[in-house]
Amino acid sequence: MLGSAQRLAVTSSQPSDAATPAVSAFYDRFPYPGDPLQDGPPPGYNWRWCVDSVRAFVDGVLPVPAKGQTRRSWRVLDAGCGTGVSTDYLCHLNPGSAVLAVDISAGALGVARERCRRSGAAAQVSELRIEQCSLLDLGQEGDFDHINSVGVLHHLQEPQAGLVALAQRLRLGGTLHLFLYADGGRWEIQRTQQALQLLNVGHGEDGLRLGRALLATLPETNRLRRHHEQRWALDTAADANFADMYLHPQECSYSIDRLMAFTACSGLSFAGFSNPEVWDPARLLEGELLERAQELSDLERWRLMEALDPDISHFEFFLRRGDQPEALDRSDAALLSACFERNRCLWGWPSASLLGPDLMPLQLDEAEYALAQACDQAPGQPLGVLPLELDAAARCRLMRQLLDKRVLHQLTAAASG
Ligand SMILES: C[S@@+](CC[C@H](N)C(=O)[O-])C[C@H]1O[C@@H](n2cnc3c(N)ncnc32)[C@H](O)[C@@H]1O
Repeated sequence: MLGSAQRLAVTSSQPSDAATPAVSAFYDRFPYPGDPLQDGPPPGYNWRWCVDSVRAFVDGVLPVPAKGQTRRSWRVLDAGCGTGVSTDYLCHLNPGSAVLAVDISAGALGVARERCRRSGAAAQVSELRIEQCSLLDLGQEGDFDHINSVGVLHHLQEPQAGLVALAQRLRLGGTLHLFLYADGGRWEIQRTQQALQLLNVGHGEDGLRLGRALLATLPETNRLRRHHEQRWALDTAADANFADMYLHPQECSYSIDRLMAFTACSGLSFAGFSNPEVWDPARLLEGELLERAQELSDLERWRLMEALDPDISHFEFFLRRGDQPEALDRSDAALLSACFERNRCLWGWPSASLLGPDLMPLQLDEAEYALAQACDQAPGQPLGVLPLELDAAARCRLMRQLLDKRVLHQLTAAASG
């Protein structure tokens, strides 16, 4: 394994992506995201950074922890970690796992290291390394169970090469979470970027000052200004976030069709959007129109949603190495012999009034709560033998409700690794 100094030397003398020098210099100046540092664990959770939750979402089941272990330990890569917000959560939400975070920007990594030091991230995991390295140069690092790469590949001159490099680092069954810009909801942003380029404001402090001045100077009714004020003003309050949005030296975006062509080249399977509610036509349609939408293929339905909702400004989704697993057997017989585990991404447990995985209020009725508690208190006990005054049909009905609400995860029969 190369030391980080050696790897840096390789990276700086011959960047693996032509955009690397400009992009790393940009993030040295504007480390992103600009979230404040704090002592102690990060607030709340994001289930997309909890590998157990991701696996349960993608595969429908979780492996039983290895023999003698009470939890799974994953090998996790944060590729393009920026100032470490995601790295911090990855450590706190995957206790006992080994986490490697890489980025090309020394400035961003300095903040990431300080963030993780103050939050106690390293104490949560078996190993935490935060290193300056391009995601294109990870050939010596072996394979990972899960890779998080949020808002990164669209800043490479050759995003396809980046995707292939990440795909090569994924174990069979491993999951990759990506976030990429979508054309539709970035129309105003791209116009503003274009205007600032024409005005030759640059990518530094002048750009920041003049970019903010532009959006304050345009008439209040101007579409670019209105959109910025209504949709993005809060998100771009921090200068680093404003720069990331309007002054970036290297970015691209995708339509749904180009996204599918892009991911198909990776050899990985598309394993679902990580914000599925955005792609649900029931959010916009009803009656016969909804029925027609529901009869479409997945791709046609996504195209429809892209057409109907011009505010979709990013795609966030999972890819998986290997074919998509078969749909889960949810028959009574299968459920009664299976074991279940409580989702760690619930706020307020133990209580019947919770915030669910998406931090939305979730109310369990008395019977659901009793079953969830029974699973939590008796790990490794199949549903059929849990000590509850319920017949088999009631157990299965309640279990299906709890699985749909993502309160519990089903475990596979076989032990992992
Ligand atoms: C928009 S920021 C996203 C940071 C973080 N993933 C997040 O969402 O909070 C993009 C980050 O990707 C990093 N980056 C760009 N190209 C990279 C590459 N080839 N290898 C590793 N990191 C890269 C940049 O330095 C920057 O910190």
